[in-house]
Amino acid sequence: MIRKLTLSALTALGLSATAALAAGETGHTHDVDFSFEGPFGKFDQLQLQRGLQIYTQVCSSCHGLQYVPIRTLADEGGPHLPEEQVRAYAAQFLVADEAANMHLYDYDEGAARPLTENDHFPANQSQNAPDLSLMAKARAGFHGPAGTGINQFLQGIGGPEYIVSILTGYTGEEKVEAGTTYYENTAFSTGWIAMAPPLYGDDVEFADGHSTELHHEAEDVAAFLMWAAEPKMMARKKAGFLAVGFLVVLTCLLYLTNKKLWAPHKGKKITL
Ligand code: HEC
Repeated sequence: MIRKLTLSALTALGLSATAALAAGETGHTHDVDFSFEGPFGKFDQLQLQRGLQIYTQVCSSCHGLQYVPIRTLADEGGPHLPEEQVRAYAAQFLVADEAANMHLYDYDEGAARPLTENDHFPANQSQNAPDLSLMAKARAGFHGPAGTGINQFLQGIGGPEYIVSILTGYTGEEKVEAGTTYYENTAFSTGWIAMAPPLYGDDVEFADGHSTELHHEAEDVAAFLMWAAEPKMMARKKAGFLAVGFLVVLTCLLYLTNKKLWAPHKGKKITL
C-alpha cells in the first residue's frame, strides 16, 4: 500500500514538473534586490516617482493602467506626490466626456474633458498591448526548481524581476511573421515578443539626477508597476507583523495558563 502511494505521489510530482516545463517556460528571469522585498521592505518613494515618469513618458503611449485610481499617487507609502501635483498630472489626459456625449448624435465629435484625480489612469492606447495595472502580480518570474516554485519562498514570485528581465532581455534580433515584427527576448516565454524595445537607456531625464542607464530605468518602472499592482503592500506586511506578534504573546499566555492549571496535579502519585 505504502509503496503504491509513494509511487503515485512520485508520478504526480513528475507530471506537474513536466507540465510546468511543457507550459513553455523558456524565459529567463534574473533576481533583483528591490527595496520592498523581505518582511521589513518598503517602497522607495523617489524610485516610484521615477518609475511613474518612465511609465508616463514611454509606456503609456501603448499600455494603460485602467485599474489604478490617479488619486493614489498622493498616498503615503506610494509615490506620495503633493495633491496639486496629482491634480496637474491627471489634467494632462483628455477623455471623451460621457455625460456631455449623451446628448450628441454623432459620438465621434463628442466633447472631451481633462481627467481629474478621481478618475483612473487611462486604459490601453494600443490594441495589442496588455493593461499593466496587475502585470507585476500576474507574471511569476520564478518557477524553479523543476517547476515546483520553491524558489518563490526565498525570492518572491518574481513579478517585478520579470518586468526588468523583459525590458533588458532584448538580443537585437528581429523577424517578421504574418506582417507582425517580433523581437527576440530572453525573458519572454516564447522567446519572441511583439513589443519593440521600449527602453534603451537615457530615455528620460530625472529631476533627482538619478542614473538613466537602461537597467536602472527598468528597475524604477518595475518598482512602480509593483506598487500599482499592490499599493497596500506595506500595510499588509504591518498587519502580518501585528498578527504574528499577537500570536506569540497569546502562545506564551496559554502555555503559562496550562502550567498553572495542571500544577496541582503534576508529580502526584496516582493510587488506585
Ligand atoms: C509601442 C508600444 C509599446 C510601448 C511603448 C511599450 N509596450 Fe509593452 N507591450 C507592447 C505590446 C504590443 C505587448 C504584447 C507583446 C506580446 O504579447 O508579444 C507588450 C507587452 C508588455 C508586457 C507583457 C509581457 C508578457 O509577459 O505578456 C510588459 C510587462 C510590458 N509590455 C511592459 C512595458 C513597459 C514597462 C513599457 C515602458 C517602459 C512598455 N511595455 C512600453 C507594446 C508596447
